Formats: sequence, C-alpha cells, structure tokens
Amino acid sequence: MSYLVINGGKPLEGEVSVHGSKNAVLPILAATLLNRGINVIHNCPRLKDVEISLEILRHLGCTVTRDGDTVTVCSKNACGDHIPVELMRRMRSSIVFMGAILARMQSAVMSMPGGCEIGLRPIDLHLKAFRTLGVDVVEEQGEIRCRMQKIIPQTIQLELPSVGATENIMLLSCVADGVTVINNAAREPEIIDLQNYLNAIGACVTGAGTDTVKIRGVSRLHDGEHTIIPDRIVASTYLACAMTTGGTVTLNRVIPAHISAMIATLRECGAHIFLGRQSVTIRAPHTALPVRTIRTAPYPGFPTDAQSILLSVLAVSRGTSIIKENIFEGRFRHAFELNRMGADIEVEGRLAVVRGVRRLYGCPVMACDLRSGAALVAAGLGAHGTTTVGNVHYIDRGYEQLERELRTLGADIERVESL
Ligand code: UD1
Repeated sequence: MSYLVINGGKPLEGEVSVHGSKNAVLPILAATLLNRGINVIHNCPRLKDVEISLEILRHLGCTVTRDGDTVTVCSKNACGDHIPVELMRRMRSSIVFMGAILARMQSAVMSMPGGCEIGLRPIDLHLKAFRTLGVDVVEEQGEIRCRMQKIIPQTIQLELPSVGATENIMLLSCVADGVTVINNAAREPEIIDLQNYLNAIGACVTGAGTDTVKIRGVSRLHDGEHTIIPDRIVASTYLACAMTTGGTVTLNRVIPAHISAMIATLRECGAHIFLGRQSVTIRAPHTALPVRTIRTAPYPGFPTDAQSILLSVLAVSRGTSIIKENIFEGRFRHAFELNRMGADIEVEGRLAVVRGVRRLYGCPVMACDLRSGAALVAAGLGAHGTTTVGNVHYIDRGYEQLERELRTLGADIERVESL
C-alpha cells in the first residue's frame, strides 16, 4: 500500500507533456488480436490498466514486448478465448476484449465485469448488439459465453452512445462479409483513434467522431503501426492542478480540441488559457469564479471523468456552482473527502451543490476511484498544510507517475510506500 504526501500551497509553474490516452490504448490493444500479425503501438502509456491488458494478450497467446513508449504485439499464434476471472476483476474495461476475441476465435468466455466504484456500469448494450449480429450469448453463474459461426452485418441502433459498446461492435465487425452500421454511436476522440488504428491494419471503418459509424467488413487484415492520441483527461487534470494552486502551466503534446469543454469551463472560472497547435497554456486566477450549472454528457459535452476533478477547482471559489452528473451515479463519492478538507459540497443523488470556500486544509483522505484520486491530489496541492492521499493504486490505473510530473512543475509531493 502506498500513499501520496502533499505539502500544499505552491503555485505550479512550468511545462509538462501529456502521455498517451488510457481509454484509447485499451481497445486498440484488444484490437491487436484481429490481424494475426504484428502491431506496433507508439505513445503507449505505462499504466496499471495497460499492463493488465498486456497480461491478457499474453494469456491469449500473443507475444508482447515493450521498448520505452512503444509496445509491439504479435498476435499470430493467439489461441485462447477465455479471460480468467482474476484478470477481469482487475480491470473492468477488459470487456472490450470480448468483441476482439469473438472476431478472432468465434467464441469468447469471460466473467461478468460487475459494478465498480463509480456505479453499476451494465453491459446490456454490448450483449444486445452482439446478439443482433448473430452471436449466441449465454449469461450463467456470473459468466458470459459467446459463440458464433460468422457475424451477420447489419444496422445497430444503440439506445445510448456507449463508448465501450461502440468499440466492441467495431472490433467484432471488421472482418466480415458485409456492412455493419452503428447508429447513435459514441463520438469520443478515442473512437476516432480506434478507427484510425483499425484502418491502419487494413479495416474499412468510416464515420468515427459522428453518431454513425460504418464498418465495411474485409476478408483479412495486415500488420500495422499506430500512435496513440494524448490523454484528454490527464490534460484536464493538469489544468485543474494549475487552477487549485493559482499557477501558470503549459501542457505539451495535447490536442486542444479534445479538451474544449474543460477549457470553456475553466475560462468561465476566470482562467486565461492560450491555445497552440499541440499545446495549451493556462494562467489561473487568484481565486476561481463559480460556474453556471455543469452537466456531464457524452462527447463533446462535459466529460464525466473531468467532472470529478472540476469539483476540486470549484470547492475553492467565490460562490456557488451546481454540477449535474448524467453518466455515472457514483462520481461524487470524493465530495465527502473534500468536505473533510474544509469544502462545502452537498450531494443529493446526481446533483452536487458546491459552495466555494476560501481555502482547503490538508488532512488524510482516501481515493475512491481513479478520477476522484486525481481530484484529491489537485485539492491537496492547493490546500493549506499536508494532505495524504491513500489508495494510490487507483491513480496508477490512469496516470503515469503523476507525482513525478507534478514535481517537475514545482509541487511538493512524494510517494510513500507503507507496509
Ligand atoms: C468509457 C470510459 C470512461 C468514461 C465513459 C463515459 C474507457 C475504458 N472508459 O467507459 O472513462 O467515463 O466511457 O465517457 O473508455 N451503459 C448502459 N449499458 C451498457 C453500456 C453503458 O446502460 O451496456 C450506460 C452506462 O451505465 C453509462 C453510459 O451508458 O451511464 C455510458 O457508459 P459507456 O459510454 O459505455 O462508458 P464505458 O465505455 O464503460
């Protein structure tokens, strides 16, 4: 068990580069199963969830090597169709392997991913789409068993623009005889990255980034190379840390358009933000202003993942803000921890009323999930005194050595390993 010790109150100053996107790389790693060949993936972050995905690929018979930020996966000899329960438990997003395993092996067996820290997270839309495409799905004793001869390409109407379901359908239908269309598809940048990777290995996917994605099945795929997009939530986290500390920070290797909802909100809070082609500079105000109601929504709306982190910014502000969480019901659990630091946040269901206070005070707090962990770090950096953030393993799922990067910006933050 390790925790982070933060001596708050130092404005962050300097430049930091944003690592590759966790949510983009996970489905792309699953997709490496499809081409029965060699996949070279650049800008692959060193994250817990990535390591688990690589472990799953090895378990399925792939050869995986890493050289710095480049991961090479050879899926020529992949043979398994089963993800053991221990690996499923360690990463909920392993569900995105289902479409890829099925496409490659015509069968897939895995345990139900179950609920997680931020809410129920059902997978009914994934399974319904699979069934529509001709997959025989049996759910039994916590296990899902899928089997098919070959998929029957057709139009899928998603009830919600689910990111994971969109990705799973794309993965399942690349190698097929006909055209699969996803209506009401998720429009997140990670879907575009998956499309770009799939096309790099010979697939024929169009429309990613709009609400209609078309997958024209091909008979085979080939070797390919791809560079993962920068992580927009990590970028939003650094912007939030600049805000809570009243600092001036430049983010490099970022795609400004991907974080436009966060940028617009922080400008409303009084930040001066300057956009380059692949960089963003933020000059935070002395004290943040409150914002009009923020409602989380699918992309390009305000991202639920950044909402957790924004809560720490609004906790210390000159008025009252309201946040409505529309995606995951459990995304306010850290409000209680922020209140322990002196914040005044009232949560009722999916609504949080944030009454800004003058300052927060450091104390021991516990991360309850990945983004709440990042939010507590942002709060601790701006707080008076010492904050210790426990459950750092959550943060390691999505941030590559967060404390090291923050130290380069002048933060007083250390990781302490405890027994
Ligand atoms: C992905 C991201 C996560 C982000 C989320 C929303 C990854 C690894 N994770 O999660 O960081 O917060 O998108 O942007 O990319 N739903 C159903 N049934 C389903 C699937 C989803 O009801 O079968 C609901 C969910 O409960 C949620 C909403 O749809 O309310 C969106 O979920 P979804 O887009 O699927 O999120 P994930 O892919 O799990």
